[in-house]
Amino acid sequence: MKIKENLFPPSLFAIYLGVLFLMSGIHMGLLVFMERVNWSELAQTMVPMGYWGMVAVGLTLFTRKKMKSTYEEPLHKMAEAARRVSAGDFSVYVPTIHTSDKLDYLDIMIMNFNKMVEELGSIETLKTDFVSNVSHEMKTPIAIIKNYAQLLRAGHVSEEQGKEYAENIEQAAERLSSLIGNILKLNRLEHQRITPELETYDVCRQLCESIFLYEDVLEEKEIELETDIEDMAVIAADINLMELVWNNLLSNAVKFTGRGGSITIRQTSDRSHVRVSVSDTGCGIAKESIKHIFDKFYQGDTSHAMEGNGLGLALVKRVLELMNGEIQIISEEGEGSTFIVTLPVAEMKHKNGRKAGNV
Ligand SMILES: Nc1ncnc2c1ncn2[C@@H]1O[C@H](COP(=O)(O)OP(=O)(O)O)[C@@H](O)[C@H]1O
Ligand SMILES: [Mg+2]
Repeated sequence: MKIKENLFPPSLFAIYLGVLFLMSGIHMGLLVFMERVNWSELAQTMVPMGYWGMVAVGLTLFTRKKMKSTYEEPLHKMAEAARRVSAGDFSVYVPTIHTSDKLDYLDIMIMNFNKMVEELGSIETLKTDFVSNVSHEMKTPIAIIKNYAQLLRAGHVSEEQGKEYAENIEQAAERLSSLIGNILKLNRLEHQRITPELETYDVCRQLCESIFLYEDVLEEKEIELETDIEDMAVIAADINLMELVWNNLLSNAVKFTGRGGSITIRQTSDRSHVRVSVSDTGCGIAKESIKHIFDKFYQGDTSHAMEGNGLGLALVKRVLELMNGEIQIISEEGEGSTFIVTLPVAEMKHKNGRKAGNV
């Protein structure tokens, strides 16, 4: 994009100069004319004076108008917009002065101002949303705990029922504690209170260990698991945080894949990057949802019937940001999803053998 650097370009001054030359030319002509027609001396003095007075007023008015439209009006608009923002109105939008093919640096300033206001606004809504989301997520388990505790207190409960109620209370308490744990982790990660401890380690081994934890659930749901993982690939990352990433991706894959489906975990590496993809044949993600799945508390299923609190992928994204990694999603609703994590390879030689098969 080409941006005009000068609000008052040299060509404008050339025009001024041209106009002044022209005017003095006319002045000379006027003098000759007055001499010819033999005007009185008084007229010969007054006419040029009046003439130059008019020229001066004309040029002054033109300059004033130009300055007003170039500086004053946009700055007034900006001042008014800034006043509204400071009063808490983030819906402000200042239109640019010129169209996009003729932008100057004032337009750029206005555009950046608009962007800033938009960002501020979204931070504000995020904050409000966050509080209402947390309260909402806490309400259900607390209500469960309260109800079952009341039932237990009222007595007349068989031993079996008592056990069931206690179990429900335990589950609700667990849900609360995982919610709070996730919020705390996310909060610490967002404010960088955790400085990631980068260690060089073999990510293949970590992946295999993470997968191992899901063996029982996979068997129970009759989900077929295919893995294609190298013998060794070294990355420099925080081991505990990366464990969070793999566990979240795997637990999502397991959660959103129906009985009899399949999950494939593939890991490859080249000279600069290690790539891990987790694919499933589950429910997939709708196009319009993909934009939101990394948002805090976002759950595709708005009834919140499934377990989880929508913080998993927000955590994954944040961890990968801290590890200089990336995450990509390929998903088709009803067909399945693939999450691809890319991480920079660490300075250590690694073998290229492959570990493949069905676990
Ligand atoms: N493998 C997947 N298949 C289908 N949908 C997924 C998958 N992973 C994530 N999602 C969608 O992204 C949302 C957010 O995921 P996440 O942050 O892990 O929260 P949670 O697992 O608690 O619902 C999920 O509610 C779901 O709608
Ligand atoms: Mg999850």
